[in-house]
Amino acid sequence: MSVDRSVTFTGIHFENPFLLSSAPPTESESNITRAFEAGWGGVVTKTIGLHPVVNVYGAKAKFMRTSPEDANVSMKKRPGAALHSSWNWELISDKTLEWWAPRIRRIKEAFPNKVLIASIMAGSGNDKELRHWQELAETAQGEGADGLELNFSCPHMDRRDMGSNIGKDQGLCSVVTEAVKEVAKVPVWCKLTPATADIVVEAAACFRGGADAIVSSNTFPSIPLIDPETLEFEINVDGLVSSGGLGGPAILPLALAKMAQLTKAFPDRSFSGIGGISDFNQAASYFLLGCGTVQVCTAAMLDQAVGPNVIKRLLSGLDKFIEEHAKDGWKSVEDFRGIRRDRIVLQSEIRRPESSEYYSGYETVEGYAAPQPEVAVRA
Ligand SMILES: Cc1cc2nc3c(=O)[nH]c(=O)nc-3n(C[C@H](O)[C@H](O)[C@H](O)COP(=O)(O)O)c2cc1C
Repeated sequence: MSVDRSVTFTGIHFENPFLLSSAPPTESESNITRAFEAGWGGVVTKTIGLHPVVNVYGAKAKFMRTSPEDANVSMKKRPGAALHSSWNWELISDKTLEWWAPRIRRIKEAFPNKVLIASIMAGSGNDKELRHWQELAETAQGEGADGLELNFSCPHMDRRDMGSNIGKDQGLCSVVTEAVKEVAKVPVWCKLTPATADIVVEAAACFRGGADAIVSSNTFPSIPLIDPETLEFEINVDGLVSSGGLGGPAILPLALAKMAQLTKAFPDRSFSGIGGISDFNQAASYFLLGCGTVQVCTAAMLDQAVGPNVIKRLLSGLDKFIEEHAKDGWKSVEDFRGIRRDRIVLQSEIRRPESSEYYSGYETVEGYAAPQPEVAVRA
């Protein structure tokens, strides 16, 4: 039986459900061209804004690795260490809308069957900023972008009325989405910050504003470690650091938890999953929770900047997964999307042992003392 890799997500046809997320892999025409040639089904451009952007001195992103023998987590490269996470304090694209506009057009003309989503960001709190969102949206769709992703999620903004500061305020989420929807002729996705108490609240606000999909997660707020020898942060400028964003393997279970909250609250809505994906195994969790597409950043950055091997693995992993379930009648992502969403329940709904076999929590599991039947206390 042949595998159908294609998906339709928010009305857009994708030849496969794998996208590069808005980040360095999608910051230029040459990167996006290479990404499409490598097989990615779509890209979300690096976020485009109207305000001037100047990044800090030196590195905008670095990678933390951990060693099996001591579990040390550090940005220092050393042999045998495995990737733990990415850390970045990069701002949105430092290229202007005028720079992006002809490039969006050229890319779409060269790759009409690939999906190009424009990530956009402006401020909030007044009509002028809402018009900025509309100008960005109208320009990007006018040049041929297939959809818009509203960045309500950047955790390290140089302006208080932008990025995750919008994503933390349900009123702003709703108002900005509505303003963009007023002019949008293409689907509108909202990328939310994971740094709120209950992401369902902000997602509901975006849906009230007319959002076609929610995208989650952006990076999680974090700071780099302090080198115990130099007493300096492992990434700093003049000894100073500010809160940045954590991505990569370390955030996978955290991002999945956010996604599970979302897909359970809105089982009939569309979601694009991001966070810690480098292989199909991780992507599968997002699909099984209900996502229609998934996006990748950190793993792609570390694979020739646009992830040619990552996309190969994702595609072959998807094919194998579906072929292995051919007996269940699976042919495409739609056949298994969301089938594990309902397995997440309240803890009170999880089965407990009978009192005769209850050892007060002492079980033969890693990290716990050996079973101690004498401490069985339950009546
Ligand atoms: C260096 C860097 C720059 C990023 N820039 C953006 C951005 O401009 N807009 C955006 O929405 N997300 C941005 N992100 C977040 C990623 O798109 C993605 O949501 C996050 O890294 C989690 O995915 P991952 O675990 O695959 O890295 C950036 C991430 C990194 C590491």
